Parts: sequence; C-alpha cells; structure tokens
Amino acid sequence: ATPVRLATPPMGWNDWNSFRCGITETIVRETADALVRTGLRDAGYRYVNVDDCWAAGRDTGGHLQADPVAFPSGMAALADYVHARGLLFGIYTAAGDKTCEGRPASGGHYEQDARDFAAWGADYVKLDWCGAQGDPYQLTSQFRAALDATGRSVVLGVSRHGNPWTWPSHPADLWRTSADIDDQWSSMLRNAEEEAGLSSRAGPGAGWNDPDMLQVGNGGMSTEEYRAHLSLWSVLAAPLLLGDDVRTADQSTLDLLGNREVIAVDQDPLGAPGDRLSSDGDREVWTRRLANGDVAVALFNRGATSTEIRTDARSAGLPFSSGYVLRDLWQHTETSTLGGISAEVPPHGVVLYRVSSRPQWTPPQVTLSTDTGFVA
Ligand code: GLA
Repeated sequence: ATPVRLATPPMGWNDWNSFRCGITETIVRETADALVRTGLRDAGYRYVNVDDCWAAGRDTGGHLQADPVAFPSGMAALADYVHARGLLFGIYTAAGDKTCEGRPASGGHYEQDARDFAAWGADYVKLDWCGAQGDPYQLTSQFRAALDATGRSVVLGVSRHGNPWTWPSHPADLWRTSADIDDQWSSMLRNAEEEAGLSSRAGPGAGWNDPDMLQVGNGGMSTEEYRAHLSLWSVLAAPLLLGDDVRTADQSTLDLLGNREVIAVDQDPLGAPGDRLSSDGDREVWTRRLANGDVAVALFNRGATSTEIRTDARSAGLPFSSGYVLRDLWQHTETSTLGGISAEVPPHGVVLYRVSSRPQWTPPQVTLSTDTGFVA
C-alpha cells in the first residue's frame, strides 16, 4: 500500500479536550449526529476520533479490548455508526506498553493492533508516545509499515517526541509541535508561537505540523480569543480537530467553527503553511500564500489593549499591482487599498484578511470532496 498523504490538513473532532476519560460510545454517536445536524460535517469536519481511555485490556488472543462499560458495543460497531453518517473514524493508542492514562497500548503488538484497527474500520490512528522506550522515528516507521500492511489507507498522527518535522522521511501524516493545549489564552498562544519558523517542514508531500486540537467553544477564552485561535490555526495550515461538545455548541461557536472563508484558508490547495512575518512587541503579522495568488494576512494583537497593526502588500509577498482588495474573513467585508494593510485590532484579537492583487475580487470556491481527501 502507498503511504497516506493528506492533500490538506485533517478536519474533524476529537473527544479529549472535552471528555478526557469520561468518553463513552454514546457521546461519540451523539457527536457524530451533531456534526451532521449542525452542518459542521458538510463544512469539512469529517474525522470522529476517539482519544485515550477506550481500551481496557487484551483478550487471550492478544487483541485489544474496548472498555466494556464505556464502549459496550465495541469499536467496530462504533466505526460503522460513524461511517453510516458520512464521517470517518479515528482511534487512539500509544507506542509503548501504556497510554498516557495507563490504559493498554500497542508496545509489542504493532502488527496485531494495526490489523485490528483496520478491520474495525479506522481511518485515522493517533499514536501517542507516553512512556514508550526507543527511537520515535524507528517506532513510528514500524507502526506505519504495520498500517500499510493492512491495505487500508489510515492517517497516522504522532506526538512531538523526536521532533518529527526533522525526520528524513515522514512515516506520520501529522505531528504535534508543542505541549497539550489548555482552554486558556496563554496556552493557545504558546502553541501557535512554537510553530513560528516551522512552516517549511510541512505540506502535502510531507505531512502537517500540529499545534494541537481546538479549544473553541469550551468556555475558557472569549469569542475574540477563539477567533484568534482559529485564525492562527488556519494560517498555520493546522489540523482543525474540534475539541468542544458539539452536541451542545451554541450558535456563536458554530458560527466561528463553520466560517467557510477561514476554513478555505486552512484547506487551501497549495498546502503551503504560513508563518510569522514580523513581530513588534504585542503586534504580530502572520501570512500564508494561497493557491490563487492571494495571501492570507493575520494582524495579531497579543496584548491586552486595542492597537493598530500594519504591514503592506509587498512585504506580505503580493506581486506589484496598482491596487489590492482586502477581504475581511470574519466581517465578510471588502476594502480597496493601494498597498497598505492595516487595522485597529482588539485586545487578544486577530483581523484576518485575504489580500488579492486582482481589482475584482471574487469569493473563493470552497469545494469539499466526498472522497476521503487522500492523494495517492
Ligand atoms: C497526551 C496527548 C493528548 C491526549 C492525552 C491522552 O497528553 O498529548 O493529546 O491524547 O495524551 O491521555
């Protein structure tokens, strides 16, 4: 089998940020339904990923067993339920003997577990590191080989151990670049900033830098801060894995997560992750080149007071033109400019522009494929 190469970063949901070890199959099923009902599936959020704490032991044949209380129907039935709703299914394990929560993991069982995950219908495996012994590159390569041997195309996501973005080849499709994200401004900020300088390491031929799952909607940040969180993740070409309880998400959260113009930046087909262009105290500018020649420009205010942030079209990498159009991706408004790109940015906020050198700006066509999103 050919290794999976995702053309764009994965989008979906993972239970960890909201449920931790309280996750159950009922919650996963209700979340799959909620992704359909809210329109988030159709906005691109396709993976439904079960994180730690689903596994409880091994049977006499050595097969991993789902926790009989939390997942009484088993993982294959859950994958079927998810697939029947036009979604993809993800599962979690770790490279050593135990997961981060002390549940049984895949150490010594890579082939067997990969075969079982594939047989159950997993489309995505998160391979964590906690407590594993050995070289992360070697072990990840072994797990990749075990997945490939099943003949099923399975996305492989790994932790940051061994700095996967520096590896000579990419057995994983995405890799964490920072510590676990908390539902707090300082934590979100740290994870975004830790990706500064790593943009050249990721892309469609390699895999994706992963600053961790979204906290949008979990209540620990303001709407303005969550808007900044999503803006930065989109410019970074980060995986967009929802971390909230989608079943009870309010309209404001759904509006943030469902913003198709922001999603189009994250999923831009050029697949060139953005990076920090400049920083001046709390004023930062992040940019990302887009497939149609536009550039996404995030004017990012880290500080606690409103401030004007400015750059210009040439600095942002746009070609010379007699004029530019700034499309505000959160306000859905347009302004024309001779080259200046600036805005008064609220505290802990981002103004996210799509800058075009064409005099007539037309909305990007967001086409969401119905296949799995893989390129061979
Ligand atoms: C690690 C990972 C988290 C989560 C937990 C589960 O901390 O980084 O994303 O998967 O393990 O125990």
